[in-house]
Amino acid sequence: MNEDLLQETLAAIKSDMTKEAASLFVDLIIDYLTSDKEKVCTSLAAEEIASRFNKPLPREGQPLTDVIEKIAQDILPDVNRLIHPMYMAVPVAPPLPATVWMESLIGALNQSTRVFCMSPTGTPVEMHLIRWLAEKVGFGENAGGTFTSGGTEANFTALLAARSAVLPDSWQEGVGAEAPVVLCAENAHYTIFRAVAQLGLGKRRAITIPSRNSQMDTDVLAARLRELAQTNTKVMAVVATAGGCGTGAFDDLSTIGKLCSAYGVWFHVDGAHGASALLSKKHSYRLRGIEQADSVVWDPHKMMLMPLSASVLLVKNEQYLENAFASSEENKGNKREKWNQYTRSFMASRRADALKVWVALQRYGTDGLGVLYEHLCHLTEILYETIETRNDFEALHRPECNILCFRYIGNFSIDEPMLDTLNRKIYNHYNHSGLGFIAATPIRGIVALRVTIMNPLTQVEHLQTLLEGLVNTAQKLLTTEDLY
Ligand SMILES: Cc1ncc(COP(=O)(O)O)c(C=O)c1O
Repeated sequence: MNEDLLQETLAAIKSDMTKEAASLFVDLIIDYLTSDKEKVCTSLAAEEIASRFNKPLPREGQPLTDVIEKIAQDILPDVNRLIHPMYMAVPVAPPLPATVWMESLIGALNQSTRVFCMSPTGTPVEMHLIRWLAEKVGFGENAGGTFTSGGTEANFTALLAARSAVLPDSWQEGVGAEAPVVLCAENAHYTIFRAVAQLGLGKRRAITIPSRNSQMDTDVLAARLRELAQTNTKVMAVVATAGGCGTGAFDDLSTIGKLCSAYGVWFHVDGAHGASALLSKKHSYRLRGIEQADSVVWDPHKMMLMPLSASVLLVKNEQYLENAFASSEENKGNKREKWNQYTRSFMASRRADALKVWVALQRYGTDGLGVLYEHLCHLTEILYETIETRNDFEALHRPECNILCFRYIGNFSIDEPMLDTLNRKIYNHYNHSGLGFIAATPIRGIVALRVTIMNPLTQVEHLQTLLEGLVNTAQKLLTTEDLY
């Protein structure tokens, strides 16, 4: 062992435990949080950025000031600035500041919530939040759940729980040749379809129910459930979406819940985006019927504005969640495991993400987070109403939350194929300019611009700036580019 290098490294560790060291990082964060002058997103290609990092990693540590300089030079200039009020791209949050600081503390504490003895305060906080969220959903005494790394893992775990309910022997025996089917809305998140394949059912057993007015068509669902019952085909779950990532639409949970109950089918609600509407008196009606669900995904890292990651799966009956991770025989009467979340989780080592959610609720309040949800939706509604008063844009739906799809239509003399090309180019050129950051998505076969307003510091004037920026981009394209 190189004794000198060991001593140097130990000295570096000690000196990094000081306020001086911390303040170097804090200054970077404050600069990032308070500057809205920078570009919202980079115009550089992946290869250009990657070339910056094509150097051998140092064999010996560098002074912290040099490392900070590298971060300032190589990392920060080309990040997506989610904190910028013109950031409106995807449902990833500019995190609430108290949670940014709490992230450092979570890292410092590094409590693994796998078992209680490794996280004696993190685990009870996780359980407390699960109970609170489950009450918001309307679940009773037997409810439980788990924090996950994201909506993807939460949806996967929900379907694992459904599998344990529908095929209790699957832990030992697998799903067999006659695997059950899963019925999903057309607008279900792509990870649902993946989960069906990953669970060993085979992707073709994910049956898509078409949409009517962006909602799962419940008449078609009723007909499919009837047909499947007549042919004795096992249904593992019906998956509804509350706040789809395309247009932010909410399925009719009441009707879907009743159908699931009539056919004795597991009812899963992917509320990764929209379950936070339960915090708002004004918007909670969109989730009417959610209490009928057997499982619900709710991502605080989306509309509760947490840093990645904080996602939650809630189940009406915790036993099914436990049976997703061991056979029911193994789980029987296993009271000792009550506080050990690994029995309900895909993960072994688990971050104490619940701590930052708890801190946000302490700092901003449950109603405070509800009002932020309303504010983001209100801004989106204003954008929609503004577009409705103009001739040069077309809104493609009325917003149900903080997501709006629309397109530039100019002076009506542009034909449909050209409108698609134009809007695709507007999206690319506008984002490339760094003036703002939006998304594009196909909707009903046409290219739409999509805005997801995630930043509570975005104001009405920024919505005007957005439309002006898009018009300028369009006009430049119409005069300089061949769009055919
Ligand atoms: C409705 C919905 N479900 C699931 C997911 C996946 O969540 P995550 O990205 O946290 O894994 C998303 C992501 O945007 C989503 O919008």
